[in-house]
Amino acid sequence: RKKVTIGTLRALYKKGEPITMITAHDFPSAHVADAAGMDVVLVGDSLAMVALGMEDTSEVVLEEMLMHCRSVARATKAAFTIGDLPMGSYETGPTQALQTAIRFIKEGRVQGVKLEGGKEMAPSIEKITTAGIPVLGHVGLTPQRQNALGGFRVQGRTSAAAMKVLEDALAVQEAGCFAVVLEAVPAEVATIITQKLSIPTIGIGAGNGCSGQVLVQVDMTGNFPPGRFLPKFVKRYGDVWSESLRAIEAYRDEVKSRQYPAPEHTYPIAQEELKSFAE
Ligand code: KIV
Ligand code: NA
Repeated sequence: RKKVTIGTLRALYKKGEPITMITAHDFPSAHVADAAGMDVVLVGDSLAMVALGMEDTSEVVLEEMLMHCRSVARATKAAFTIGDLPMGSYETGPTQALQTAIRFIKEGRVQGVKLEGGKEMAPSIEKITTAGIPVLGHVGLTPQRQNALGGFRVQGRTSAAAMKVLEDALAVQEAGCFAVVLEAVPAEVATIITQKLSIPTIGIGAGNGCSGQVLVQVDMTGNFPPGRFLPKFVKRYGDVWSESLRAIEAYRDEVKSRQYPAPEHTYPIAQEELKSFAE
């Protein structure tokens, strides 16, 4: 498979072919996403929860994101790889945003960065893209601002709120984003925004009218314990947790009963060597 570039994504968009995107947080999760033919792999700050066991994304720091980006980038031979700027690493202004974006490229070894926010982030997006670093925007529900939003709420449900999402999307497009994530907005609103933009929209909880889709890998593969809350938009395509649990329980039982390891799992030694050793 050929390396996916910004040009490849542009070509998919022009053809009207949906762009496929998924998160990864380490070498194996990136390797499987790349093997499955994902166009884009995102090292989302959702890794705070899915890889580090934190409560929300506000806890993860830049150095942690960079280490996980490096491990993902080693596996993504074809997929375009993007790192998520964590809360606190870009909001003070364009200079901080560019400095952080450069670290993602140089140390994280990704090909682009994502940052949350609309109009107010335009100067920072412009600064980063002018330096030659592709930026993926993220508007609608922006989880890093959950405290200000009053939790994880659908955005753009009134005419005025939908207009705000549209204006934010247009602003990040104007600032130079190559694409924009639309999170948790009504499908019809996302469709209209997609029609009004000239860059791809990547939907998550934004319906089927977007130019592409993104999901968190552990959510869509079912790699989490039963009972965890899943947002409405997640479709679970697998049951990785159950398969891992089944395998590890079987291993536990076979070790306890001495069924494992069996002779075929052991190394031979020549009889005369063994005799001389055992004596
Ligand atoms: O952190 C993340 O995984 C994300 C995607 C879900 C868009 O931002
Ligand atoms: Na994120």
